[in-house]
Amino acid sequence: MGIFKDMLKSDESVFKVSEALDYAYMPKLMKYREGEQEQMASCIKPIIQKRNGRNLFIYGQPGIGKTLACRKVLEDLQEDSDDIIPIYINCWQKNTTYKILIGICEQLGYRLTHNKKTDELFKVVKSMINKMSAVFVFDEADKLEDFDFLYSILEEIYRKSVFLITNEKSWISTLEDRIKSRLMPEALEFRPYNGNETDGIIRERIKYAFQENVWPEEAIEIAAEKTFQLQDIRSGLFILREAGNNAEDRASRKINLEDVKKAIEKLPEFSSKKQEELDDDKKFIIETIKNNNGKKIGDLYRIYKEKGGEAVYKTFQRKIAALEKEGFISTEKIAGGKEGKTTIINTKDITKKLTEF
Ligand SMILES: Nc1ncnc2c1ncn2[C@@H]1O[C@H](COP(=O)(O)OP(=O)(O)OP(=O)(O)O)[C@@H](O)[C@H]1O
Ligand SMILES: [Mg+2]
Repeated sequence: MGIFKDMLKSDESVFKVSEALDYAYMPKLMKYREGEQEQMASCIKPIIQKRNGRNLFIYGQPGIGKTLACRKVLEDLQEDSDDIIPIYINCWQKNTTYKILIGICEQLGYRLTHNKKTDELFKVVKSMINKMSAVFVFDEADKLEDFDFLYSILEEIYRKSVFLITNEKSWISTLEDRIKSRLMPEALEFRPYNGNETDGIIRERIKYAFQENVWPEEAIEIAAEKTFQLQDIRSGLFILREAGNNAEDRASRKINLEDVKKAIEKLPEFSSKKQEELDDDKKFIIETIKNNNGKKIGDLYRIYKEKGGEAVYKTFQRKIAALEKEGFISTEKIAGGKEGKTTIINTKDITKKLTEF
């Protein structure tokens, strides 16, 4: 009796709002980052009192709510204030002064950017913003290729806060002195969520995204536990979506443990950091490393060339360093090689951790 009751009909879905599992989805409430958001707000407060704001350097590992927390603060600002303009720029997508100024113009609603040079664009931005004030968030700031826009903003916009977000704390010390001395930011570290917090976030997201009673308790626990181990909510969202898809493939109204396990097994192909945004050569390098884990950098370069890689050795080295910074791979220096040292390249431990399941 009732053997068909858990079967999904053709017009049914386990998902209620599957967009709630998109990485860019903004949940109504953001829990567990109240303190961080307060620090952000306190940097902005002086602007409300018609003074200059304070600047903030935000750092922490991938997938722990830095972007979401900032966007939430900007959203609140938009609702509560008419004369502070919130500007959000992702520097992965816009990594030069020109592209950033175009992005700011777009957000200011200024459309006549065509044929304008960088300095003309800045004049427009300056004259519009200096009638009011602004909070600038430059996310993924370690992807920036030039900093002229930052210098200009710090020098010529009167009332503002500038927030810079990166994964690595050490990045800030690589900035040129002319910028550092004008920026003088406070630091705000994002720590990974603890087990309870991770569990809370996963459960909340299940409520938004899935129909009721789709997730049995033990499946939720495994998904939350894995997410906590990986210390990355983005991986958790991936698990939830994949598990849902697996249940639908079985035409089942309920997710079972096997669906979750399968989703977890699929994780190594998925990198927490948005791999699809990497250039083709970097993707190719990651593939090469995956197939040749633990090789010396020189040997790896030879394999890469044999397989059709085009970068010269210097560029290759630069990309390896960048991939490490972005958290895709790890390297270790060992004795040996020409200068008495050589670098061993590994794909990130993520694969190892996952198979421990
Ligand atoms: N407290 C939270 N409540 C609900 N969802 C959260 C929370 N923290 C993070 N998330 C979700 O986790 C995902 C990753 O968060 P976010 O993009 O803010 O990470 P990040 O710290 O900016 O990572 P990266 O350094 O890789 O850019 C997002 O989809 C976000 O909505
Ligand atoms: Mg982010």
